[in-house]
Amino acid sequence: MLSYKFALEEVRTKINILREEFQVIHEYNPIEHISTRLKSPESILKKMSKKGMKPSFDQMKEQIRDIAGVRITCSFIEDIYKVSDLIQSQHDITVVEVKDYIKTPKPNGYQSLHLIVQVPIFLTDRVEVVYVEIQIRTIAMDFWASLEHKIYYKYKKQIPSHIQDGLKEAATQAALLDRKMEQLNHEINILKKEDGEDSSLMTPNEVHQFLMQLSKEED
Ligand code: GTP
Ligand code: MG
Repeated sequence: MLSYKFALEEVRTKINILREEFQVIHEYNPIEHISTRLKSPESILKKMSKKGMKPSFDQMKEQIRDIAGVRITCSFIEDIYKVSDLIQSQHDITVVEVKDYIKTPKPNGYQSLHLIVQVPIFLTDRVEVVYVEIQIRTIAMDFWASLEHKIYYKYKKQIPSHIQDGLKEAATQAALLDRKMEQLNHEINILKKEDGEDSSLMTPNEVHQFLMQLSKEED
């Protein structure tokens, strides 16, 4: 379990670096928040038994690929793909599987981008490679998934069809909201750009020169 905990820390750090660098370069933060979770031994056993597996350590390591889970909530849909590309281009991360439930939502309406990746963990005497499941979604997708999970939690019977329909409809509404916000963001970005071109008295080069001089003065 320690390896999985390290893997979570490693991925979290990587994402935080990407986030901060993105903020500095683009003056924009595409990530709302990041959360991580380690699957409990009970849940791991339950999943293995559901899959008809014997309680073998090697099989667990190979077949249970969501013991370490990272969830990244982004501002806009396009940020999801930006963040996914940035993660995928990291040299020590191997992407094993990409499931795009945004392009093709699940029948119940669920949307998110899932990556299964492999991360190397450098231990004192060896390098272990472990799987990490990364779920990337917008706030609206996260809102839907969290509440859907809560609504169904501990309900063991067949779900009445009007409730299934209602949740699917809610997922469609959430997706519309995402597209609306993205469109509004695009529009304002165009306005910001025009405005910047018209009214700014400083060129980016002048700003750069000024900041360089300022940092020299501080030394
Ligand atoms: P497991 O669902 O983990 O057995 O594996 P899978 O191969 O079906 O993976 P999938 O990518 O479908 O789902 C992995 C994870 O995504 C789940 O453990 C959930 O956290 C999340 N997820 C998938 N489908 C749903 C859904 O319908 N509702 C909610 N709330 N979460 C979902
Ligand atoms: Mg599933």
